[in-house]
Amino acid sequence: MVKKILITGGTGLIGRKLTQLLLESGYQVAHVSRSKNTSTNPPTFAWDLNENYLDPEALNGVEAIINLAGASVADKKWSESYKKVILESRVKSTNLLFERLQKADHQVKVFLSASAVGIYPDDRGNQVFYEDGPHATNFLAEVTGAWEQEVDKIATLGIRTVKFRIGVVLSKSGGALSKMLLPIKLGLGAPLGSGQQYMSWIHELDLCRMFVFALENENLKGVYNAVSPEAKTNDEFSKAIAKSLNKPYFLPNIPGFLIKLMMGEMAGMVLGGNNVSCKKIQNAGFQFKFGKLNAALGELLVG
Ligand SMILES: NC(=O)c1ccc[n+]([C@@H]2O[C@H](COP(=O)([O-])OP(=O)(O)OC[C@H]3O[C@@H](n4cnc5c(N)ncnc54)[C@H](OP(=O)(O)O)[C@@H]3O)[C@@H](O)[C@H]2O)c1
Repeated sequence: MVKKILITGGTGLIGRKLTQLLLESGYQVAHVSRSKNTSTNPPTFAWDLNENYLDPEALNGVEAIINLAGASVADKKWSESYKKVILESRVKSTNLLFERLQKADHQVKVFLSASAVGIYPDDRGNQVFYEDGPHATNFLAEVTGAWEQEVDKIATLGIRTVKFRIGVVLSKSGGALSKMLLPIKLGLGAPLGSGQQYMSWIHELDLCRMFVFALENENLKGVYNAVSPEAKTNDEFSKAIAKSLNKPYFLPNIPGFLIKLMMGEMAGMVLGGNNVSCKKIQNAGFQFKFGKLNAALGELLVG
């Protein structure tokens, strides 16, 4: 069993929850961050992607790396310069790790990386996407494809690698769910666009448990969809939130063109969506705690 784990982007939404779960499970954890703060627990090592710099001490004693770093795709409008940040924060960071693992003496046996379901086409109605499914040609799919290619380079070093194509992470501490909650809490919930676009989601705890599962199961390698077994349409999803909160849900659909006007190219993230299968990770033996949306929302919003 690996003991010491280095997490890039460990300060983020998934990283904080995963760090907590790993520490509770008896692992040692360190973070890599753009801001070094040696007094923090867990210990944090600095990197600077513009300088191609990673603290030379960062890999000491590390047996597994969990790669989560990447600039948010939802917090800022996608200007051309910010699109470059979104891409480079994933590609350059993973390439820097590849270079260090290639050159340095190290004990790393496992490399687990975030990826995203945005790699699949988002306009195919009920079509279900498996790991060998087609890739889209939009910006997010191109970023995700380039990111996965960097992870594949690490696999060529003989390190076991797992890529998790993550769906919308439902969390108590922010992310997509908190953005969806606000209008619904005000009684202004409505389907976005047609409302028929699928959302493939996962409860934050199940995602973190999936990373631990991949650490502990040496048979796991390659790409896995990290989504719950119950994808929902945008309309069904918003309705379920409204029901959990005892809020009305009656307003007409918000037209897609208005959302495009407000969000620009980013609108694709809410107007598009895909129905992604988790059969592969289930067949590998992973069991969800929150496989059903009502159970997940019950824990996150009520319990
Ligand atoms: N949350 C979701 O719904 C979801 C869905 C699919 C895929 N994912 C992917 O999973 C990963 C983790 O998600 P998350 O929600 O935890 O993300 P997050 O909260 O935005 O955190 C990502 C971390 O990446 C680091 N980072 C941010 N900008 C960076 C930059 N320009 N260069 C290098 N590092 C940067 C930050 O760490 P420091 O500030 O410490 O450097 C940050 O804490 C992301 O790569 C995301 O694309 C997330």
